[in-house]
Amino acid sequence: MSEIGANAEEALAYVRAIPAAKGRTMMGVPFEKRDRVRFGFVGVGGRGFHQMKTIMAVEGTQIAAISDPVEANALRAKETVEKAGQAAPALETDWRKLCAREDVDFVFICSPWDLHADQAIYAMHCGKHAGVEVPAACTLADCWRLVDASEHTRRHCVILENCCYGDNELTVLTMVRAGLFGTITHGEAAYIHDLRKGLLADTGGGLWRREPHKTRNGNLYPTHGLGPVAWYMNIHHGDRFTKMVSMSSLSAALQEYRDANLPADSLQRNEKYSCGDMNSSLIQTAQGRTILLQHDVVTPRPYTRLNLIAGSKGTFSDYPPRIFLDGQKEHEWKPLDELKAQYAHPLWKEAGELAIKNGGHGGMDFIMNYRLVQTIRRGLPPDVNVYDAAAWSAPGPLSDISVAWDSLSVPFPDFTRGHWQTAGGLAPPATAT
Ligand SMILES: NC(=O)c1ccc[n+]([C@@H]2O[C@H](COP(=O)([O-])OP(=O)(O)OC[C@H]3O[C@@H](n4cnc5c(N)ncnc54)[C@H](O)[C@@H]3O)[C@@H](O)[C@H]2O)c1
Repeated sequence: MSEIGANAEEALAYVRAIPAAKGRTMMGVPFEKRDRVRFGFVGVGGRGFHQMKTIMAVEGTQIAAISDPVEANALRAKETVEKAGQAAPALETDWRKLCAREDVDFVFICSPWDLHADQAIYAMHCGKHAGVEVPAACTLADCWRLVDASEHTRRHCVILENCCYGDNELTVLTMVRAGLFGTITHGEAAYIHDLRKGLLADTGGGLWRREPHKTRNGNLYPTHGLGPVAWYMNIHHGDRFTKMVSMSSLSAALQEYRDANLPADSLQRNEKYSCGDMNSSLIQTAQGRTILLQHDVVTPRPYTRLNLIAGSKGTFSDYPPRIFLDGQKEHEWKPLDELKAQYAHPLWKEAGELAIKNGGHGGMDFIMNYRLVQTIRRGLPPDVNVYDAAAWSAPGPLSDISVAWDSLSVPFPDFTRGHWQTAGGLAPPATAT
């Protein structure tokens, strides 16, 4: 469904409409403690298969059930679980049946984007906690539906934002909290990754991930860069995103790459890509901080999530990771490595070796899943909850609206309905281990 509206006024009225709450806040609500966590996996393609193996490497887990309409993917996953010495997981052709199973505690969703919200909501209504790959939702309506379902069912919806758990990101989080950068004023976040080949492939993401490039024009994948910056800024623990403006460049690189690489009779040759190659947004927070948020998956250039955080006493900038602190020699960055040991995060100290052994984007996937299981086994609140899932995903639809109406400044919905002011403390995992 398009949420863009017939004009800017209609779009603004839509964004401002806050549905009535369907339950109490889920902020700070702990998981019920359980020693063994039984996972049901929905979608075991590229990402889901990898995530499943990482979960199996964490102590206290079991893969109880798997659902994927592609039989070969489901069977590959089942065999992998059996080879690891676990009991054979149940195979369910319908993901709804998996959500309803009594032997599943947590539904782990790694399907295409447009299925995430419906599957997570259904899982929560079946009494299961849900973990959702990114983005958690593609429309504002679905962001609100996730919040309402979590509050109504008292189940958690955890956004599986692995980039929050990277070694550099958690080291920098520790530095931010130690006050190294002073008063935090500005951050930069991005997903800049040349995916042209995969987008045009006949397999995996190529089957579904190109579609929004035909129907949307904005930031299609906002969370990888934004999640870590939200943690640096303590979003939902005393600050929140309040407004956003967005602008897109023209669209050129995907079409030119396609024309140069696919045969003249290929069906893709008829496609028109509406999504601008580079989308740039600015977000402001209640404390007056700013965030530059970018998305570009078609321009030939090296990968970056920018991952910059700046304050009154210094700046960290990634790719490569470097810092500049007040008083340092002018114009010269220092490599992050020089301070890494001093500011290593407790999670990486505790599980870093296992993370490197088990891999997954430099170990961040393992650390995320390790911490998720740890919070459940210890009966802690999850590090990220449904409000984070909604607020980190919402720049997708908000950018579509802003771009459509001449870079309209759009108010950022407060998915916490005011609880960002009262949650207190630090955004987790401040007190990990
Ligand atoms: N966090 C990360 O670093 C990261 C990396 C890659 C992908 N992802 C995310 O993971 C998700 C999956 O991406 P992918 O690259 O694995 O795509 P993929 O196409 O390789 O896998 C998707 C899988 O979902 C299955 N599927 C489709 N419809 C389904 C349904 N109704 N029920 C259950 N399964 C269904 C497909 O058969 C396929 O096996 C996406 O949301 C993507 O954004 C995240």
